[in-house]
Amino acid sequence: MDFTIKACNWSKGKANGFLTGKSDAIVLGIFEAQTLTSTARDMDTATKGLISRIVKAGDMSGRAGTTLLIPEVKGIGASRILLVGLGKQDAFNQKAYGEAVRTAWRVILSSKIGQVTFTFAQLPIVERNGDWAVRAAILALRELTYKFTQMKSKPDNGARSLKKIVFSIDSADDKAARVAVKQGVAIANGMDLTRDLGNLPPNICTPTYLGQTAKKLGRDFKLKIEVLGQKQIEALNMGSFLSVAKGSVQPPQFIVMHYNGAGESTKGKNAPIVLVGKGITFDSGGISIKPGESMDEMKYDMCGAGSVFGTLRAVAEMGLKLNVIGVIPTCENMPAGNAVKPGDIITAMNGTTIEVLNTDAEGRLILCDALTYAERFKPAAVVDIATLTGACIIALGHHNTGLFSKDDALASELLDASREAVDPAWRLPLDDEYQDQLKSNFADLANIGGRPAGSVTAACFLSRFSTAYPWAHLDIAGTAWKSGAAKGATGRPVPMLSQFLIDRAGA
Ligand code: BES
Ligand code: MN
Ligand code: ZN
Repeated sequence: MDFTIKACNWSKGKANGFLTGKSDAIVLGIFEAQTLTSTARDMDTATKGLISRIVKAGDMSGRAGTTLLIPEVKGIGASRILLVGLGKQDAFNQKAYGEAVRTAWRVILSSKIGQVTFTFAQLPIVERNGDWAVRAAILALRELTYKFTQMKSKPDNGARSLKKIVFSIDSADDKAARVAVKQGVAIANGMDLTRDLGNLPPNICTPTYLGQTAKKLGRDFKLKIEVLGQKQIEALNMGSFLSVAKGSVQPPQFIVMHYNGAGESTKGKNAPIVLVGKGITFDSGGISIKPGESMDEMKYDMCGAGSVFGTLRAVAEMGLKLNVIGVIPTCENMPAGNAVKPGDIITAMNGTTIEVLNTDAEGRLILCDALTYAERFKPAAVVDIATLTGACIIALGHHNTGLFSKDDALASELLDASREAVDPAWRLPLDDEYQDQLKSNFADLANIGGRPAGSVTAACFLSRFSTAYPWAHLDIAGTAWKSGAAKGATGRPVPMLSQFLIDRAGA
């Protein structure tokens, strides 16, 4: 699908460009109980009053969710008009916009329309402007058209009619809208990669496969890639990470990906942002084995890693002027005769001894060594992303990612980014009072903190290993995946992370 911008001279009162361009359909929004927008009025004039007659006859009320496809239109470049109800104008916020956009795309995708002109970017959206609207429309369309067919023997990829999307925007927004197209496509491509990796079965998407994926990404986008194997991980003394990998026949991998968009980082200048992603390609629970129900879904326990791949892909495609490093510890968590057991005490890379009280709390055990490793980059900030706790799903459901940080500035930066990207996150506490739950009678630290505030104590565990730099933790257990009929990976939180990095790069 090809996205282009067509600027019209709205501000100078010459808004006709969008009316003459040839297309199979033009999408027009109608507010409820409201006079027509200026865009609609222009179209009304060009079609000799067609729009106002339809509204007057009650065939388009403007109610949210309603549509009317008008065929065989004369007087404008498009042969059809798709009217879309937008609801009340004063309530037209980013959520209402998103719903209207998805409604429009659904109608268009179920038709034979090949080229469409989209006028929504001119609508008055509460607190949002035209370039935001363009990007959100692209992301919504790409979300609706994503399909995972790699594992079907006869993939049904039914040819799609929609090929070309033209956004008509005010020429004053021209430059910003072109950037928005680039960002929208890059973020959508990143999300597709994240979703593909999450959806792949765990017998294919192994740690070795993720290592190969990193190398491919490196070739395609000129990233420097390091993939460390068992021996090299041992040499780094990552005893905590290795304890999780032990019970599996799949060798662990430690992946480091460097995107260098700002030049050499020296003396605190151009310090990188480090993204650390949990890459458990299958979480059986290990010796503390999980119940059988939905265990298949534990293939998505590498979605933190997946989102690091997706975000780096997006950042590289956008060509952001900053340095980003992706760090991924990846292995399986399996039961076996030589697997780590409850009661075992292991030594992390930084020398901390950890009593493993539950082998199913493995995410923190692989992340803690990656967080120690990240110190060597003298990072400006580190954000880890992990499907870390079932408790986070209990606390926040599937809408908000859990955000933890002791750094208020970093936390609000991430929350702002999540709002802008419509990829919601909610901050949860990380007070020192919770640290007591991680006390061990035998080692420095226990790997579980009991049932109360399970997501907080998991974050507390990680906080012990991330004191050398500003740090935030994202628990995506509830947001990286959808269960039920639409089972599959969501690509979150790639939009939020990409926005965070766009903002950091000042792009
Ligand atoms: N990967 C799971 C967390 C998870 C659960 C993600 C459900 C997505 C859906 C994690 O490794 C885990 O098993 N956590 C345990 C921690 C507990 C043993 C303290 C949990 O949440 O039950
Ligand atoms: Mn687990
Ligand atoms: Zn896990």
